[in-house]
Amino acid sequence: MNNVKLNKMILLGIPLLFLATAVYFFLSGSNVQIEYQGQQIRDQYRETIEYRQGLVLQEISDQFLSQLKVTKDDQDITADIELLTNMNEPVNLGTYTFDYGIDDEMYVRYVVEIVDTTAPVIDGTKSYVAQIGKPFTKENLQLTVYDAYDMDLLSTISLSDIDTSKAGIKKGIVKIHDQSGNESTMEIEIEVLDKTVNNEQGEQLFLQKDTEDLTLLLNPSHVLPDGWEPDDLQMINHDANTAHYLRKEAADAWEQLYAAAKQDGIAVNVVSSFRTQAYQEMLFNSYLEIDPDAASYSARPRSSEHELGLALDLSYDDQLHDDLQTSVLGQWMEKHAYQYGWIVRYPEGKEDITQYIYEPWHYRYVGVPLAHYLHEQILSLEEYYSNR
Ligand code: DAL
Ligand code: ZN
Repeated sequence: MNNVKLNKMILLGIPLLFLATAVYFFLSGSNVQIEYQGQQIRDQYRETIEYRQGLVLQEISDQFLSQLKVTKDDQDITADIELLTNMNEPVNLGTYTFDYGIDDEMYVRYVVEIVDTTAPVIDGTKSYVAQIGKPFTKENLQLTVYDAYDMDLLSTISLSDIDTSKAGIKKGIVKIHDQSGNESTMEIEIEVLDKTVNNEQGEQLFLQKDTEDLTLLLNPSHVLPDGWEPDDLQMINHDANTAHYLRKEAADAWEQLYAAAKQDGIAVNVVSSFRTQAYQEMLFNSYLEIDPDAASYSARPRSSEHELGLALDLSYDDQLHDDLQTSVLGQWMEKHAYQYGWIVRYPEGKEDITQYIYEPWHYRYVGVPLAHYLHEQILSLEEYYSNR
């Protein structure tokens, strides 16, 4: 036997000796048997658990222990096995380690990975209306989203590009994902409306279909759909004995204003309120018959705010007065009307913008926030919309 062979034997022999020793100790130490869910396991067991709200570490540990069986030297010692590690709550996504044994002797380690594999849920409006040429983005969506684990999902919303350059029904895909990468999608439908119609003179007018919008702009170039009428008209109180109607929200706001005026000893009569399209048409034509300039103070049918059910003509008697603003009523209204959501719709000095003469009697309900804004900024509704 030469030296080279001897060296090889030593090199091979030493690891083999170690292996044999390890196997011996392993076999002789295996008098402890561990079973989990009826299956024999080694001294460590790994599992993945789906996150759910209210899950606590104690529950996970109890669950493991209830399905664990430990025998030592053929004796069942399961009842003596206890959790050796401290548990910190609450449960989050991540890995938790539980060690079990008796006193300081550990028999089995349970490693649990808490995961969220549940896709988030999207709920809400699936059909939308958009105006031609106006962008439709995720800000227009009316959705609620929720997830088993994540709190804030709204920031992950994305919406596919919606082409609003042409009228028609467009499809969009809304996507959200949670921080574990689970994704949900929802298909939505957007009806892109062609906003324009032509009047008898061949001029292009904008069709205002969003009639639920109480801040809707109506004027000679922005008109209501043919035949549209509000369906929530409500009779209102005032100081004369004539019946007048407004849309519900405007009517409620009016009652508050009227009650406040009463408190201050102000008498206020309503001369005109809701008008049907047919009535507005009759009214406009009757003015036009005697005055070629009628369109400077009377709206064509489909363009009067009276048809919207959001306008009132006010007086201290039964007539309209050019100098209403100098009266006690006019002064009071100037000071308080906006606080209840009402504005002088055709102000003095803005005739070129509104295309109507100054009408101190014509009040329009636009809601409290916008009325405040227009009052502070001294803006007409036309200016408000053209600045946006
Ligand atoms: N007087 C306003 C402009 C109307 O007729 O509605
Ligand atoms: Zn009016």
